[in-house]
Amino acid sequence: MNAPLFNTINTFTQLTEHAKTASAWQMRDLFASQANRFGELSVSAAGLFLDYSKNRLNRETLSLLLALARECRVEEKREAMFAGEIFNNTEHRAVLHTALRAPRNDTVLFEGKNVMPEIHAVLDQMEAFTRRVHSGEWKGCTGQRITDVVKIGIGGSDLGPRMVCQALRPYLRDDIRVHFVSNVDGHDMDAALKPLKRETTLFIVASKTFTTLETMLNAHTARNWFLQGGSESDLPKHFVAISTNAEAVTAFGIHPDNMFPFWDWVGGRYSVWSAIGLSVALAIGYDHFTEFLAGAHAMDVHFRQARPEINMPMLLALVGIWNRNFLGYPSVSIAPYLQDLGNFPSYLQQLEMESNGKHVTRSGAAVTWHTSPVVWGNVGTNGQHAYFQLLHQGTDITPIDFITTLKPSHKLPGHHAALLANCFAQSEALMLGKTADEARADMQAQKMAPADIEQLIPHRSFPGNRPSNTILLNSLRPESLGALVALYEHKTFVQGAIWDVNSFDQWGVELGKVLAKTILEEFEANTSHPHDGSTTGLIGLAKAALE
Ligand code: F6P
Repeated sequence: MNAPLFNTINTFTQLTEHAKTASAWQMRDLFASQANRFGELSVSAAGLFLDYSKNRLNRETLSLLLALARECRVEEKREAMFAGEIFNNTEHRAVLHTALRAPRNDTVLFEGKNVMPEIHAVLDQMEAFTRRVHSGEWKGCTGQRITDVVKIGIGGSDLGPRMVCQALRPYLRDDIRVHFVSNVDGHDMDAALKPLKRETTLFIVASKTFTTLETMLNAHTARNWFLQGGSESDLPKHFVAISTNAEAVTAFGIHPDNMFPFWDWVGGRYSVWSAIGLSVALAIGYDHFTEFLAGAHAMDVHFRQARPEINMPMLLALVGIWNRNFLGYPSVSIAPYLQDLGNFPSYLQQLEMESNGKHVTRSGAAVTWHTSPVVWGNVGTNGQHAYFQLLHQGTDITPIDFITTLKPSHKLPGHHAALLANCFAQSEALMLGKTADEARADMQAQKMAPADIEQLIPHRSFPGNRPSNTILLNSLRPESLGALVALYEHKTFVQGAIWDVNSFDQWGVELGKVLAKTILEEFEANTSHPHDGSTTGLIGLAKAALE
């Protein structure tokens, strides 16, 4: 789909000019001059609330950003994605993860065929399997029920289920434990296997391609571990696979009846809604898994139907574009004020950086504008006591997404009010900063010596004016988590559409994989290949240590 290049369109020039004025604005003043700024610059959708008023923008900025989205044909591109067009143009694939969470009776066409029956056939397979495991009807090789699941996978075949299982901790069943192993570092698998018993452990090998080095090595290690005390004929009771590659699954030795398929029109980082979510269903129960899908679907409907002015993913994306491309901020920090969302920053790193960390347009021309910012972060309040100093007074400005819930899922008194107070105080402090007069008054109230006060003012005052969004959920439930994840998926889509990149491929990670294979061969077969001096030196040190 051809759209004019981002930096050649009228609104790009207008926004560039507008940003020159905006960089002098103080958010304190914007709040003072716009009585209902909070009401005007906030939006609700699918049970979520987004406050984007603490950004350096005004009504004119917003209307220019909305015009930018129009000029970049974001809505047309959105429809092309939902309609199953070949939107991933470098891999010739459709992009239909939204169909995975659509109701059974919807029609979603891909190459003239409705994909919904296939999707729901797999969901039915997942439901039947999950219920058999939970009821104990699915038995291990000695007739005992499964008590532990080891989910093997990496990247998109790991981060989603890992993040969701942590986020929905209050929903975890107490009759089964799900463990995640992703890293090729043997310490990961070793630690996971140590406390487990073969006869009550189920391995899920999840890999879209079923060729990923880390996952295949971990899967072979798991199989060898199992075979140390079990026989080949017992494997079907203990190994299932999730993949698009049936041939490779069979070649590995997993019975086709134990395979849960998905399709090449589901990108790895968009796959938690597919059979890749089997570990989630096992951990929290199938019914809760369907609530998770329903929450995402509610956000899909909103994204597709709401006018851009009140469209949450669109607005979140546009504010991000303003901060990245016009105000020039190089990174975005994610601050979930919820311990259970501890893996959400890592999840978003893959979602946003693998999707939009691109240097050419969809048609292959070099981009001459910035694409994805660096995405990073950690839970609050922990982050406050580690790196927030830089966010308040460092030389780079980093926009922050604060994410929290109005209600906790625990009953411990006092904690949630303290958590929310800190969350809101941080965005307020980042925005307000502290003037020299305020710093002086504070120190005078502490009866400090005037000479000390003047010396400390530069250290104890700071300009503020640092942008943030706040996303509120009522509580962290399967539905609201589904909506939150879909919000960021669509934000990523809109930004990719504006930057005119293919958000659904990841060619950049391939080179490292190929080079790793060569180096591994050098370790294993003691061969040598030409490398640069540094790599040769490092290989030499490792070879000596591995001998
Ligand atoms: O190396 C990146 C990547 O290809 C991701 O895009 C993907 O999610 C991950 O590896 C795992 O791939 P697979 O599911 O095929 O094992």
